[in-house]
Amino acid sequence: MSRGIHSSDDARRLARRRLPWMVFDYIDGAAGCETGTVRTRAAFDALTLRPRILRDVSDRSLGVSIFGQQTRAPFGISPMGMCNLSGPAADMMLARLAAREQVPLGVSTVASTAMEPLIEAAEGHAWFQLYFSGDGTGTFKLVDRARVAGYDTLVLTVDVPELGRRPRELRHGFTMPFRIGPRQFLDFALHPRWSLAMLFKGRPEPANFRMPGYDFDRTESRAKADWTMLSKLRDRWPGKLVVKGVLYREDAVALKEAGVDAIQVSSHGARQLESAPAPICALREIQSAVGADYPLFYDTGLRSGEDVVKAYGQGAHFTFLGRILQFAIAAGGEEGLQALWDVLRAETSITLALIGATSPRDPLIAEG
Ligand SMILES: Cc1cc2nc3c(=O)[nH]c(=O)nc-3n(C[C@H](O)[C@H](O)[C@H](O)COP(=O)(O)O)c2cc1C
Repeated sequence: MSRGIHSSDDARRLARRRLPWMVFDYIDGAAGCETGTVRTRAAFDALTLRPRILRDVSDRSLGVSIFGQQTRAPFGISPMGMCNLSGPAADMMLARLAAREQVPLGVSTVASTAMEPLIEAAEGHAWFQLYFSGDGTGTFKLVDRARVAGYDTLVLTVDVPELGRRPRELRHGFTMPFRIGPRQFLDFALHPRWSLAMLFKGRPEPANFRMPGYDFDRTESRAKADWTMLSKLRDRWPGKLVVKGVLYREDAVALKEAGVDAIQVSSHGARQLESAPAPICALREIQSAVGADYPLFYDTGLRSGEDVVKAYGQGAHFTFLGRILQFAIAAGGEEGLQALWDVLRAETSITLALIGATSPRDPLIAEG
């Protein structure tokens, strides 16, 4: 069932209608005047894919192997905080999708569902995303907890030493938990479907900070993260370590030398530094610095199957989708999410056929 979703734009349009303005703008918004979003889109649009012909593309596959695991799709689910704002139990919908598609679900430090039920629902296909904060005491407790919960991949996000300023969020007075003043009251009253669902299911809150015997300070600064901390984390974490939010080749080389298992090229969906380069433009350079075999992941600005294929063409070994998945949930719940996923799968598969390729890592794609 399509739920009226034939593209990620459809999902966004429907979500805009159904979500309170405050929630839509929290998910959709970006840093500053949002030129980062525009730059990213323009960079994708400037890349072209050359159609190659008569290559028998009847047998195509979308799955790839990451860290020795075979996925069913060429994209996974980016870690996102407070997903349950897009719809009740959105985190669980994403986890079940990860299980079905055997792709990684990024479980945010500030997820609105605790990390334990999420990895269970994802049938193990979950990676824990870590924000370093304060002096690291709480952070390392989260790391140990993730290990006990069965996570074997940790994603350290490094592009949030301070939270970027997103005026669209700030204008609505977006805070967690909500403060409900007259403006928010009107907003919620005008979106009764969302508001009633939240009333029955309860207000979403960051769920990982509730830790027995430890009082987590959610307001701690993230600014102290440095290379010494990274090396401590590397020593402490026996599993795979991914660093997310890398845009600079020298940083990528240093991360590889520090024993990091993969790098995720990302500008956090243009939500942090407005003037950051379009991350899709950084992929090739970073790949040439770390070598073609070193695992390189990509997120930010992926809106279609053609975008996904372009990211593989620039050197990505795997890609991650972000806010459009939340829009699909807001638009049509779990069916809406599956509908968008199917659209993206179909778009990717058709794109491969049209350029004469049979898989996302077909060397032909990199030839452009
Ligand atoms: C609402 C929202 C919350 C996010 N929360 C987190 C988070 O907690 N941790 C993190 O590493 N990235 C977070 N991100 C960034 C995503 O992981 C990802 O980098 C980004 O959404 C990709 O860009 P896209 O939305 O254009 O696809 C968040 C993004 C959004 C839209």
